[in-house]
Amino acid sequence: MKRRIAILTGAGVSAESGISTFRDSNGLWENYKVEDVASIEGWYRNPELVLDFYNHRRSELAGVRPNGAHITIAGLEKNYDVTVITQNVDNLHERAGSGRIIHLHGELTKVRPENCCNENDGFSENSVFDIGYGPVHLGDLAPNGHQLRPHIVWFGEAVPKIGLAIDAVERADMMLIVGTSLQVYPAAGLYRYAGKDTKIYIIDPKDVPVHDPRITHIRDVATRGMEKFMEILDGSRI
Ligand code: OAD
Repeated sequence: MKRRIAILTGAGVSAESGISTFRDSNGLWENYKVEDVASIEGWYRNPELVLDFYNHRRSELAGVRPNGAHITIAGLEKNYDVTVITQNVDNLHERAGSGRIIHLHGELTKVRPENCCNENDGFSENSVFDIGYGPVHLGDLAPNGHQLRPHIVWFGEAVPKIGLAIDAVERADMMLIVGTSLQVYPAAGLYRYAGKDTKIYIIDPKDVPVHDPRITHIRDVATRGMEKFMEILDGSRI
């Protein structure tokens, strides 16, 4: 039986593809107010601004490609049972070939009517559909007659897939965390669900805010960090 690896990724894994992170200098949250473009209150206040923000992100995504880190992560599936848990709304893990991906914060290339996929319908994704890389405008309606909104989890909203992510971490024989500042919960707390003897590797060029005897910090960018991680895997029993 293949050993299980749970991989939590954040904006840093896509940085070398040319996608901005959120909290680094010149990151997205330096140029936009998070409460305006990524919160449910922001959507109620000014949906056009929010649609515009995600329209830009979507068209940017059309022009970038997976980098070596995404590709190495996908390649791990040859020898391991891999679950990718990503906070990213891009589709670069899919395009690199990863098979099992949990998108904690939603997906840029999907939309849904604004009255669906919430507490009232048990977060059913029946009305979610793909729109590719094109824009969504105010007045664009779903088949049920309601305004379309991005299929994104905003601040102030539930994170319906967190249970699936916790299960994957609890069952993992090893955990890998790549390119996240671990500032946003519940994703930031996922590593706590790893078994008490489970090794946790974190790839990030900056200091990490967590201190735990299970953690080894590989201080590097995602592409080179993944190469180092592969050397560690080759030399270990797991
Ligand atoms: P952040 O921007 O908070 O953190 C990015 C992390 O990636 C930082 O720790 C950087 O040091 C690291 N990093 C930068 N370049 C890197 C590289 N080339 N290789 C590896 N690591 C690199 O992004 P997230 O932690 O993903 O949510 O942010 C979490 C959530 O906050 C996002 O999903 C988004 C945001 O608000 C929503 O919008 C709901």
